[in-house]
Amino acid sequence: MRVAVFGAGYVGLVTGACFADIGHDVVVRDVVAEKIDALRRGKVPIHEEGLDDLLEHNRERLRFTTDVDESVEGAEVVYVAVGTPPTYSGDADLSAVWTVVDELPRVDRRIVVAMKSTVPVGTGRTIRHRLDERGLENVGYVSNPEFTAEGTAVRDFKHPDRIVIGAFDPADAEVVERVHAGIDAPVIHCDVASAEMIKLAANAFLMTRISFINEIANVCEATGADVVKVAEGVGLDHRLGPHFLRAGIGYGGSCFPKDSLALKQLASNSGYHFQLLAAVIEVNELQKRRVIGKLERRLGSLRGKKVALLGLAFKPGTDDMRESPSLVLAGRLLAEGADVSAWDPVADGRVHLDGVHIADSALDALDGADAAVLVTEWPELGELDWAEAGARMRKRLLVDGRNMLDPSEMRALGFDYEGIGRAVE
Ligand code: UDX
Repeated sequence: MRVAVFGAGYVGLVTGACFADIGHDVVVRDVVAEKIDALRRGKVPIHEEGLDDLLEHNRERLRFTTDVDESVEGAEVVYVAVGTPPTYSGDADLSAVWTVVDELPRVDRRIVVAMKSTVPVGTGRTIRHRLDERGLENVGYVSNPEFTAEGTAVRDFKHPDRIVIGAFDPADAEVVERVHAGIDAPVIHCDVASAEMIKLAANAFLMTRISFINEIANVCEATGADVVKVAEGVGLDHRLGPHFLRAGIGYGGSCFPKDSLALKQLASNSGYHFQLLAAVIEVNELQKRRVIGKLERRLGSLRGKKVALLGLAFKPGTDDMRESPSLVLAGRLLAEGADVSAWDPVADGRVHLDGVHIADSALDALDGADAAVLVTEWPELGELDWAEAGARMRKRLLVDGRNMLDPSEMRALGFDYEGIGRAVE
């Protein structure tokens, strides 16, 4: 099949590359000419496991363009994978989506627009009206949300838990199902609004689990229990399952923070106060800041103290720092007058962290530090020579924001170790 993909970001590139890998002929279109030029030269603008290989491997079936007509020409399906960032009001900014809808050329055959970008419930209906107003009745519309996580996006796309297809017309749903031929997963057919809600609800539920276990962790700290054991014991209940029960310093990324705000806002716009989601968001904001209290309890005032942040990306396996807890931590530490150094194996801190010294290695970041905070659970940090790390530091205080390291091993190395929700010695 011929597939057009609008948007060459994390979602668009993975979608395009995976569909090309299935055997479809794919054209990826983006408005940023430099990005398209780079992709044509074989340069991938993001760090995503397996994506470079997939793009390289499927070169013959993949084209990149800035031209709308070129991308839509001959296409049966036009995927929309553009950004939908939050506005000041917390609503999703759909301007990039509207630009795509308004730019769609007139075609003399049936094509289907498939929405991959996360949009508020009701967007599909409004887009349908707009297409009809433009006289584009032969353009079908389908909501086909993505559930890929960064770092494992290629694997998630190829082996999804389910494929959700919400359509106004069953014939359009059938076209989108055909695009996924060869992907073995249950297909949920539903109306457009339900498909839109499935995406938002799934994300909100995952965030709820994280904020829940983070609050349990905080109570564990106050009562002497160990959240890692608690999560293990809770997760073995088959009704609950083990996933998204890792306590830490809060969730970040391009989806959770934005989508939770958008869903909360969507509810309030309809006159409903989504109390649980509001609490989930607030717990997460507080969780990012709790590390500051932990440092102050051990070091007193942070003014003039050197704190090393190990990991900057919002999670391992990605260079993405959007809404990363590292941004809040760095900001708070600088505001308290601390001297902040940081290291990440792939995320470029220079772009986002004014006033923070970006080191070339974890050990360099730790030179002369009064405290280290493990922010992202990069495997490199598990394998770090912690004896050498301790020797480089002025004080061996270590806050493990992801409960990645073994507390007794770290204590044996002379570290004053504190995790999240674990007994403090
Ligand atoms: C998420 C959803 O998983 C994906 O389905 C959706 O399409 C996009 O949003 P992503 O943001 O890439 O994907 O990463 P994810 O692995 O879900 O992690 C999100 C954040 O939650 C990270 O900051 C991670 O560190 C945090 N997290 C995750 C926890 O703190 N504890 C956990 O148990 C799991």
